[in-house]
Amino acid sequence: MTDLSHPTLPGTLPDKRQVAASFSRAAASYDSVAALQRAVGVSLLAQLPEDLAPSRWLDLGSGTGYFSRVLGERFARATGVAVDIAEGMLRHARGERGGAQYLIAGDAERLPLGDACVDLVFSSLAVQWCSQFAMVLEEARRVLRPGGVLAFSSLCVGTLEELRASWQAVDGMVHVNRFRRLQDYQNLCAASGLEPLSLQRQAHVLHYPDVRSLTHELKALGAHNLNPGRPSGLTGRARVQGLMQAYEAFRQPQGLPATYQVVYGVMRKPQA
Ligand SMILES: C[S@@+](CC[C@H](N)C(=O)[O-])C[C@H]1O[C@@H](n2cnc3c(N)ncnc32)[C@H](O)[C@@H]1O
Repeated sequence: MTDLSHPTLPGTLPDKRQVAASFSRAAASYDSVAALQRAVGVSLLAQLPEDLAPSRWLDLGSGTGYFSRVLGERFARATGVAVDIAEGMLRHARGERGGAQYLIAGDAERLPLGDACVDLVFSSLAVQWCSQFAMVLEEARRVLRPGGVLAFSSLCVGTLEELRASWQAVDGMVHVNRFRRLQDYQNLCAASGLEPLSLQRQAHVLHYPDVRSLTHELKALGAHNLNPGRPSGLTGRARVQGLMQAYEAFRQPQGLPATYQVVYGVMRKPQA
């Protein structure tokens, strides 16, 4: 991810090949550490309009296919399509039973699908990796049939703030992926031509016994820092000690907190 608080930032756009490679590497470990991702996806599913009965759905940024399988069960008569930029994730999803009938490698900002071919675009915790969220919305609108629904969850500024602040205290460098502001999500959604049904932010706070447990988990998810300008090479012992010390300032009775600011959006393509 890159600094998405501005529409585009030349020179600091995320390298999609790196994003794809990182998630492909994480495919085998992802499910074992994806508790937050499960909770967020379940919450997003609960926000779908009750009368929604798609004949074809798209799981965008489908990862290991967990929510493709849930969608497959919920909309048993519909055809499912899963799109992800990481081949390794798609391979993993293919190995599991159920889910989407079609698994396609592709980019949310340039979907490999025809116009007006799905009734639901479901995308949980994927589009924070896209530098041009306006393109994601445009593509969702293009592939949706009139009356179809886009439901997405994403991350915004404030996510992993404790880790960012702790690193900042150690060396002032960029160690945490950057996130778009809630206001930018609001503006881009309002300008998308899709009719907003709901757009809200909700904080989820996870707790860890120590900093290493958090950073290991981020790596196992494939979601560790991929920012251009991130410090390269090994992280020195003294700096890691400094990080641990700085993070202790946030400690709560349950452990070290890691905050995720999750944006949930549900929008409908107008009939006309
Ligand atoms: C955190 S995982 C979420 C996976 C799944 N939706 C879930 O909730 O378990 C993010 C997924 O988005 C995919 N992704 C990232 N950028 C993408 C893009 N531009 N187009 C399509 N998929 C993308 C990653 O490869 C990864 O599988």
